[in-house]
Amino acid sequence: MALMDRHGVIERNATLLLVGSLLVVTVGGIVEIAPLFYLENTIEKVEGMRPYSPLELAGRDIYIREGCYVCHSQMIRPFRDEVERYGHYSLAAESMYDHPFQWGSKRSGPDLARVGDRYSNEWHVQHLIEPRSVVPESIMPSYAFLKDTKLDGGNITASFVANRRVGVPYSDEMVESAAADLKAQADPNADTSGLLERYPKAKTGDFDGNPQALTEMDALVAYLQMLGTLVDFSTYDETAGYR
Ligand code: HEC
Repeated sequence: MALMDRHGVIERNATLLLVGSLLVVTVGGIVEIAPLFYLENTIEKVEGMRPYSPLELAGRDIYIREGCYVCHSQMIRPFRDEVERYGHYSLAAESMYDHPFQWGSKRSGPDLARVGDRYSNEWHVQHLIEPRSVVPESIMPSYAFLKDTKLDGGNITASFVANRRVGVPYSDEMVESAAADLKAQADPNADTSGLLERYPKAKTGDFDGNPQALTEMDALVAYLQMLGTLVDFSTYDETAGYR
């Protein structure tokens, strides 16, 4: 009863009520906000993530240029229906080297976050040339011109430097060999040992069915084939991360 009497004093004095409210909000705010300054990282650690290889990055630029993100997302949400259809839900770490990220907000077509390794290179090439030749009811546009367009790799070094500037950990060696790596990844006769050391799990060889020319189709398919393939989920523990 005595406590309620004293509370009455605050209720009848506007200034006191204001000061009291401010005090409560301040303490509550500090408790919520302060710990965030002591978190080192809000992205969980995963094994296997690496920056894009030059050819993958060039393919990614084509993906953005052509507006594939208008119809495709790259973010599997942690819901049962999505996980059953597309695979493990996307981890924050899987898009940490994406500038800009490609999560997307519209799905006229399926999510592509884990499309890598799901189809053969030949399937992708055929599908991009004429989607309806492999999926009759498809509404996806044809991108046949990519196969006849030589890949302009002239700005790949500048692109690497720009990515490094926004935090992608490209080493000096990666930047220096970017132009050569771009060509080597799609060349079936190239020595790719250095490339694979710099970019583990990168797919190599001819992508577009024409080993003589390095085309935009090579780059785009190389990009599609690596999506979602870097993290090994057979050793990933949901609650503890990697052991
Ligand atoms: C107008 C919307 C639209 C645009 C733009 C579009 N797509 Fe699609 N895409 C679809 C639809 C719808 C499907 C499902 C039917 C099919 O497989 O063709 C699809 C399917 C796909 C698939 C197969 C996915 C799977 O899991 O089966 C890939 C890969 C793909 N698209 C890549 C691309 C790329 C790369 C681009 C840009 C060059 C692109 N799409 C642009 C609508 C689109």
